[in-house]
Amino acid sequence: MSDWTIRPEAAGDERAIYGLVERAFARMPFSDGSEPGLVDLLRERGELALSLVALDKSGKIVGHIGFSPATIDGRDCGWFQMAPVSADPPVQFRGIGSALIRAGIERLRASGARGVSVVGDPAYYERFGFAELSGLAPSSDHDLPYFRALVLAGEPPRGTLRYASAFG
Ligand SMILES: CC(C)(COP(=O)(O)OP(=O)(O)OC[C@H]1O[C@@H](n2cnc3c(N)ncnc32)[C@H](O)[C@@H]1OP(=O)(O)O)[C@@H](O)C(=O)NCCC(=O)NCCS
Repeated sequence: MSDWTIRPEAAGDERAIYGLVERAFARMPFSDGSEPGLVDLLRERGELALSLVALDKSGKIVGHIGFSPATIDGRDCGWFQMAPVSADPPVQFRGIGSALIRAGIERLRASGARGVSVVGDPAYYERFGFAELSGLAPSSDHDLPYFRALVLAGEPPRGTLRYASAFG
């Protein structure tokens, strides 16, 4: 049995999520420090379509994942961007991030989503089924080498995927 439970974000979790995301990204060389504020902005703009937290046995939030709607060639196609994903540094590499990713994908699949995209280390995300899709590219060329996608339903889409407005 795992040492944590996963549930959707609830009112009152906001500050704990901010602190957790801040701690998780603090020492990441690729981070510009924007990730905790990004979660707040997604929430403020109504773009945090799915937000899950992992709690340890004491009820402390030790993991978080957010998903926001993405468009393809300007259309809402049932695709979601997965970002950010965070596990508290003292409990990283124990499966919390993987459990959040799998739980989020399954919830989106159950709700009828057609796909999920992510920007990150391909070696990590490919284990969850994320892959390069020949016809799908992010709007930012900078993201291209790290952009991966997971089709949940229907044919693989073709076009340019644009993240929610909070991503800037
Ligand atoms: C990335 C993160 C969410 C993974 O969560 P976690 O609970 O630590 O990871 P898990 O225990 O589920 O998975 C561990 C595996 O992921 C790998 N892994 C963890 N973080 C990784 C990263 N940033 N890049 C590549 N691989 C990573 C580990 O090497 C390990 O691999 P193994 O199973 O082959 O040994 C967590 O490490 C974290 O918060 N990192 C800092 C923030 C971050 O980089 N977020 C992702 C941005 S795209």
